[in-house]
Amino acid sequence: MVYEKRLKLAIFISGSGTNLQSLLDRSSDGRLSADVLFVISDRGDAYGLERAKRYGVPSYIVDYRKHIDSFRHVSDRIERWRLGYRQAEAEMLEIFKRYEVDYIVLAGFMRLLTPYFLENFKTEEGVFRVLNIHPALLPAFPGMHGYEDTFHYGCRWGGVTVHFVDEGEDTGPIIAQAVYPIFPGDNLEDVRKRGLTLEYEIYAQCINWLASGMVDIEKIEKGKPKVTIKDPNYKDIIQKWIALAFGKI
Ligand code: GRF
Repeated sequence: MVYEKRLKLAIFISGSGTNLQSLLDRSSDGRLSADVLFVISDRGDAYGLERAKRYGVPSYIVDYRKHIDSFRHVSDRIERWRLGYRQAEAEMLEIFKRYEVDYIVLAGFMRLLTPYFLENFKTEEGVFRVLNIHPALLPAFPGMHGYEDTFHYGCRWGGVTVHFVDEGEDTGPIIAQAVYPIFPGDNLEDVRKRGLTLEYEIYAQCINWLASGMVDIEKIEKGKPKVTIKDPNYKDIIQKWIALAFGKI
């Protein structure tokens, strides 16, 4: 595949950071046409911070909890959160002034980004330069517990979705999705494991598609931008994901 450029990424995490690990590994061995400039975590105990350190990637802790608590004199809870989020996002924007970032990649970041922050990353086509991976086949099961919700609902297929972030929760334009089977006798951990294997693969593929200019975005008046992947090998790639989901590769 010919990449037009190596993208510069900022990765946001809150937890274990296995997606971060996959992107760091692939960036260093050449499977990802992108470099990770820095990592932001909204909490100091995120294990992903260790992973960044091992790769010598700078990381910043933007402690949302502390920002919210600094408004403890405000009696209205929603207002307290609004002010705390604004302050945390302002801190993040200060960090961005030191870098030139092509895309923000959310990898298990458990906070919603508000329009105040997102507007800084708006493109002409009407999407923000912010990607998310969601552990369900959107629009099914948005929110924090994609694997649990898929499993407990009794779904026979689960899925993972990479999408541009918009102002809503898991509502932005879809770039790619992959599905995996859920077999009788599977438990939640089987399901999560199968899904995560796909997550690593499709997140890297989406970033490579962006790097090679294969993600076409059409602005739609008063509607969600339309995303089309212009890759001559699209079907082969999807088939590879299906094989992977069945443990065949
Ligand atoms: C992943 O399942 C991702 O889809 C979701 O959060 C989880 C993060 O896992 N947004 P990890 O921290 O990358 O291991």
